[in-house]
Amino acid sequence: RKGGFAHYMLKEIYEQPQSFYETIRAGIDDRVRRMVMEADEITLVACGTSYHTALVFKYLAEPLCGIPVRVEVGSEFKYFTPPLHGLVIAVSQSGETADTIAALKMAKARNCPTLAITNMQGSTVTRVADETLLMRAGPEIGVAATKSYTAQLAALMQIVNLRCEGAFDDALSHAHLAIGDVLLQDIHEAVALCSKAEHVFFVGRGPFYPVSMEGALKMKEISYVHAEGYAAGELKHGPFALLTPETPVVAVCTPGPTYGVMASNIKEMKARKAPVIALGVAGDTELAEIVDIFIPIPNTHHLVQVLTASVVLQLLAYHTACALQRDVDKPRNLAKSVTVE
Ligand code: M6R
Repeated sequence: RKGGFAHYMLKEIYEQPQSFYETIRAGIDDRVRRMVMEADEITLVACGTSYHTALVFKYLAEPLCGIPVRVEVGSEFKYFTPPLHGLVIAVSQSGETADTIAALKMAKARNCPTLAITNMQGSTVTRVADETLLMRAGPEIGVAATKSYTAQLAALMQIVNLRCEGAFDDALSHAHLAIGDVLLQDIHEAVALCSKAEHVFFVGRGPFYPVSMEGALKMKEISYVHAEGYAAGELKHGPFALLTPETPVVAVCTPGPTYGVMASNIKEMKARKAPVIALGVAGDTELAEIVDIFIPIPNTHHLVQVLTASVVLQLLAYHTACALQRDVDKPRNLAKSVTVE
């Protein structure tokens, strides 16, 4: 059933070109389109990895579509419900996460239009929400969310694209090819560094900040190496004290408005003797020269870089966990879906 792969997680990582493509191909039906187009504000509720995709959405939708977006952790929302206005979207792979369901019910009780983004047709969130946008990831067996994460991004990026009148049609319809390319990326040096480390920092700016949070979550949950995802500019406000030659920092640094300031942050980390593993676009020799390990991702549209960087970080966590002989598909103390609040 693992199709020749050592673990379900690796199989599912490799299925991402297909699951991303299928989710884009399925599109958005008319009722959901109308709901999304009518929204003048969007609140997303989610937990764990799904919370990270929701944050990526915020970083994309606010500047690109000019729509205010709020993102709330499901477990907080029920007890500290913010004043609600506009569309509420519950993002949940399983559709059965208790905290996300509770938040969704609160939104319904306040008469907000509600949308579920899920991988599971017929799941609880689909029954509670007014409308459903179904991801096409197929069954995900590994506890670590991988293909469901990128399929959620496919669904959420389609919403951004819809609000931007199809500006990203081309990027989204070719993204699966770039995802396929990074599956073959050699990352063994980075894996060797992380598997010797007690702590690893993951940093990025803009949408790469939640991508870093997700990279850190994957690292902790399957390799048990302590990892923190940070906004790159925040390390100097405390965590710098933890930087040592044994504390790698994984930095995502791609072209765009924050490239220069990211490069300065990387130099500051190097000055504190931390080894830096940088993900940057292929051919960026300037970046490659200032870091210890450079991992190239294809030089594509920045929406696509969000996906390819994420997949590289999944592979980094996976191979680190394997090097440490962890039970990758069934990490300790975790369940695939969390059905208690
Ligand atoms: O099924 P959901 O998307 O609602 O699950 C939420 C989290 O429990 C989940 O994303 C979890 O963080 C991942 N399995 C971690 O890889």
